[in-house]
Amino acid sequence: MDLIIRHANLPDGRVDFDIGVREGRIHAVERGIEASSGEEIDARGCLVSPAFVDAHFHLDSALSYGQPRVNQSGTLLEGIALWGELKPLLTIEAIVERALRYCDLAVSQGLLAIRSHVDVCDDRLLAVEALLQVKKTVAPYLDLQLVAFPQDGLYRSANGERNLLRALDLGVEVVGGIPHFERTMAEGARSVTRLCEIAAARGLRVDLHCDESDDPQSRHIETLAAETHRLGLHGRVAGSHLTSMHSMDDYYVSKLLPLMAESGVAAIANPLINITLQGRHDGYPKRRGMTRVPELLAAGVNVGFGHDCVMDPWYAFGSGDMLEVAHMAVHVAQMTSQAAIRQCFEAITTNPAQILGLEHYGIAPGCHADLVVLQAQDAFDAIRLRANRLYVIRRGQVLARNPPREAMLALPGRPQSLRLQR
Ligand code: FE2
Repeated sequence: MDLIIRHANLPDGRVDFDIGVREGRIHAVERGIEASSGEEIDARGCLVSPAFVDAHFHLDSALSYGQPRVNQSGTLLEGIALWGELKPLLTIEAIVERALRYCDLAVSQGLLAIRSHVDVCDDRLLAVEALLQVKKTVAPYLDLQLVAFPQDGLYRSANGERNLLRALDLGVEVVGGIPHFERTMAEGARSVTRLCEIAAARGLRVDLHCDESDDPQSRHIETLAAETHRLGLHGRVAGSHLTSMHSMDDYYVSKLLPLMAESGVAAIANPLINITLQGRHDGYPKRRGMTRVPELLAAGVNVGFGHDCVMDPWYAFGSGDMLEVAHMAVHVAQMTSQAAIRQCFEAITTNPAQILGLEHYGIAPGCHADLVVLQAQDAFDAIRLRANRLYVIRRGQVLARNPPREAMLALPGRPQSLRLQR
């Protein structure tokens, strides 16, 4: 073996298992592997998880906080206006530099696969060119999947469709859209049909910013599910945000959920952003805005979580930590049962891996050895503590290490050292 991780706890609840790695792949997962190896990691009492996956991000705007100015109101609409001010000032070099800096941060957090939307509404396609370059650069250590995203609307922006097709021609691999931002509901629905047809014709996946609104009448997800079914795109389509579902009446949702399950449309919630940006027109009580995660899961819909933004025009916070995303989801969706907490962990690992179509993902013989050793005993503790990443491993190579977290206390007559996490 090249690497053996000893005495690991696994996300499915198994404890004290060894993971043997050979030539970048997991060779064995069993108790007490008797073999020598180039490197051994003692993971006793620690959770070893497949690397984190972010189902929804914007790498072209990440880490741009304060450029050219700060979002004073902190609202979605000022964020979109601010991005419009920043776009003409962007350079390829600046986008690449910020994106690579974010990818470094992601790796240090055990986040080794990201689906990033890239704005295609700028005729120069600077962000597309920059992120295609970044995708190539980071490929040895991070899977970056790009979505052609007409931020200002497929039809509402001057050259939305033309630029989207140009981006796909250049190698962007997923079809994006934003139907609720088109001029009318009818145009929004028409954009969904057109985008699904483009994806069907090219054999691509679809991921639309869909119904990121508190308007219960924003029902483009219904069209997206129906078009997915009509065009046979089952398993290749995701609706991102779906916040209007929070405000829809229960009767309508009781029809919508089975339709989504039947079509194999996945849902992507962005807990940090949804709880921050939705409900802004409300007095009290204020709606939370996040889509109906437990109900979607119960209906058999795959749900992944996304970070969406880190220090950009829409969101000043964030650190590339998918455990922080899951932690927020637990609270917003009140997913506090033991089973629900495990589901939240799956929504930052196995579920988004399926949405992205990642191959050989997981902890089983034959899977890529893309792993994170956490200073936590199980998924519950990992989310509770937003646990320290002791080791981040990609294809069997250790990419990042962090020393165990410990505090030195100087209390009279009391222990001097306190292990903050397991
Ligand atoms: Fe987004």
